Amino acid sequence: MRARTGVPAGLANPRTATACVTARPYPCTLGYIALGSPYLRRRIGIRRGTVVNPVQIMAKPEVVVPLSKLHSPRDTLARPVRDLRISVMDRCNFRCPYCMPREKYHERYKFLGSHERLSFDEIVRLSRLFVRLGVRKLRLTGGEPLLRTNLSDLVGDLTAIPGVEDVALTTNGVLLSRHAAELKAAGLKRITVSLDSLDPEVFARMSGGFGGLADVLDGIEHARSAGLDPIKINAVIQRGLNDHTALDLVERFRGTGVIVRFIEYMDVGNRNDWRPDIVVPSKELVARIAERWPLRPLEREYRGDVAERYDFVDGAGEVGFISSVTQPFCGDCSRARLSSDGVIYTCLFATKGTSLRDALRGGATDDELLETIRNVWLARADRYSEKRAELRQAPGDHRKVEMFYIGG
Ligand code: GTP
Ligand code: 5AD
Ligand code: SF4
Ligand code: SF4
Repeated sequence: MRARTGVPAGLANPRTATACVTARPYPCTLGYIALGSPYLRRRIGIRRGTVVNPVQIMAKPEVVVPLSKLHSPRDTLARPVRDLRISVMDRCNFRCPYCMPREKYHERYKFLGSHERLSFDEIVRLSRLFVRLGVRKLRLTGGEPLLRTNLSDLVGDLTAIPGVEDVALTTNGVLLSRHAAELKAAGLKRITVSLDSLDPEVFARMSGGFGGLADVLDGIEHARSAGLDPIKINAVIQRGLNDHTALDLVERFRGTGVIVRFIEYMDVGNRNDWRPDIVVPSKELVARIAERWPLRPLEREYRGDVAERYDFVDGAGEVGFISSVTQPFCGDCSRARLSSDGVIYTCLFATKGTSLRDALRGGATDDELLETIRNVWLARADRYSEKRAELRQAPGDHRKVEMFYIGG
């Protein structure tokens, strides 16, 4: 079923007309916003039940939205932009071989200088613009986001943007014990911690010998005491490296409210020597886990959710699987990515992006920036995971952006 969308009937010049939006918008299942207020309907001349696509969700009573901005762009595959993943820091205090092998990212590697990274004000301004185009969820990533000084100030500013429904953070957890309480106080509700194994030796190998397992576990405890909920654990599984420790993670966190999610190892970036035979298909892990703790499939949490979810039949919580290699989910992908130096990417496996930083710093207006972002989204055709085999064979230089630079 398609929602009725478009410019409200009866407006002579929809590009310049403005709507005074006083209503509480009612989100519907298609992600459109149905306008419920008779006052508003009168003001913009639409009938009851008409769905307008999209209206910025208003926290304040009188907000003027130009109608030319009421259209959430759809990409070439009709996907809206709903989720913005913001890398706040390209540096990391780990050297996971599948992401930042230490031979390559050594002490002399030139990461971005602080003036090259977007400031918090610039990130907030861009986030507001993305929200006007339909984004509802923001995720802070890195590198390691907690290496960015005063990150909780940014969290506070982002959670206060009208229209933002969810702000999340992905961290390797090493610095979390120090920051969990202030992040919570700034408005963060939940957190995702990357943790590939509870075996100290395997953990050390998978984090490149940096950071301590005990610190990460301590960080998770602090997050829990601070009231961050839910806490999710992301574990990348590689055959022959940590697949034998996967069930330990389940055992440890079952019944604690912490949700473990297993990620199929992906060919992100250009340096991780990915091979299909190292990928452990989620189906295999589901079967292994279910043999010990019977599982029941759950609905995806929301449209575009990357995780396939199961709950334990004995009531001990849930476990998730992110299977972008064996069961790609590009069809519903509504994620845009913003690098720490202000480049927008429309896919985790992108080979190029569009920089907003120079325009931002050169005095571009919000409308000009919106237009650039909108055009990037309208032109989007990415579905790398669905076309992986074909694209990996394609001739030419297909150097992808690195994951630590745009976040996971
Ligand atoms: P929730 O908001 O908690 O549902 O999490 P999320 O969907 O934002 O997922 P998260 O950031 O925890 O992503 C988990 C992992 O899934 C990432 O680290 C990536 O490895 C993978 N992933 C996330 N988004 C994409 C995507 O768009 N494409 C692919 N191929 N993988 C993705
Ligand atoms: N395959 C799958 N997941 C990866 N991550 C980093 N590199 C890869 C990869 N090659 C995950 C991290 C972290 C998140 C940011 O992305 O483990 O959970
Ligand atoms: Fe750092 Fe995460 Fe990359 Fe590991 S996967 S090196 S923790 S950014
Ligand atoms: Fe989205 Fe690209 Fe991942 Fe497909 S491969 S789900 S298009 S980010």
